[in-house]
Amino acid sequence: MSEHLLVEREAGLLTLRLNRLQKKNALTRAMYSGMAEVLDQADQDASVRAVLITGGETCFTSGNDVADFIQAPPSGLGSEVFQFMLALFEFSKPVVAAVSGPAVGIGTTLLLHCDLVYVSRDASLKMPFVNLGLCPEYGSSLLLPRLLGHVRAAELLLLGQGFTGEQAAAWGIANEALQDGPATLAKAREMAQRFQQLAPSAVADSKRLMRAPGREELRRVIEEEGALFGERLRSPEAIEALTAFMQRRPADFSRFG
Ligand code: COA
Repeated sequence: MSEHLLVEREAGLLTLRLNRLQKKNALTRAMYSGMAEVLDQADQDASVRAVLITGGETCFTSGNDVADFIQAPPSGLGSEVFQFMLALFEFSKPVVAAVSGPAVGIGTTLLLHCDLVYVSRDASLKMPFVNLGLCPEYGSSLLLPRLLGHVRAAELLLLGQGFTGEQAAAWGIANEALQDGPATLAKAREMAQRFQQLAPSAVADSKRLMRAPGREELRRVIEEEGALFGERLRSPEAIEALTAFMQRRPADFSRFG
């Protein structure tokens, strides 16, 4: 298991905590496969009633590790990131997220696959895929226009515009925006703990029913986005954008046309 993941058990609640704050919890391949493994095991373990995903009180995650994107771009359904996406997509029990600080890229798109989401008011969410020469991932090109309408989703996905926790709650991406990191984590934990008193099969059946409509279409979109994302990662536009991030300069797309 990656040192950058902490797994805590408190009765029936399993907490998956990202623990790489010096890199703003950027997700490495080892972290993705660790998270996939934890979710797969938790799904099989009858004593786990719910999972809480958090990055702590100050930072959710800055998304995929950009150095990993350059050195070992994920390709295909066998990649670590895809294993994680599928594990969360298939997870049969409730997943609760506590989001404070930055939630970038997959840090935002994974929320669309959680069941309850609590955010700090000033959390900063962003899906800067186009800004990195990439395209939407994890079903966001289907789910966001459906949730927000095309024009608002276009601001987020075609311009890569960021938004606050308060907006995420107003738009239905999150249940509630709380005053700060500690309040957010406390609220998410309190709600996740409620599942311990509920009938586990009734909860799982209900989640399955709620997620069933359009599920195969969503799976197909996730795979299609994943294939294009993998191609785009190797494109000159993406290489320019990712290199620019590492060099701490703005990307220059002026030579592409
Ligand atoms: N991958 C790799 N390293 C990352 C990272 C990422 N996604 N996000 C942050 N880091 C690193 C920075 O390079 C920096 O490393 P250093 O201290 O060795 O120089 C460290 O984490 C702190 O990041 P910094 O940018 O200085 O923090 P900040 O508070 O000013 O900004 C963010 C935080 C999240 C807004 C900013 O880091 C960011 O935009 N990250 C990139 C997000 C991104 O594009 N992710 C991919 C989405 S598909």
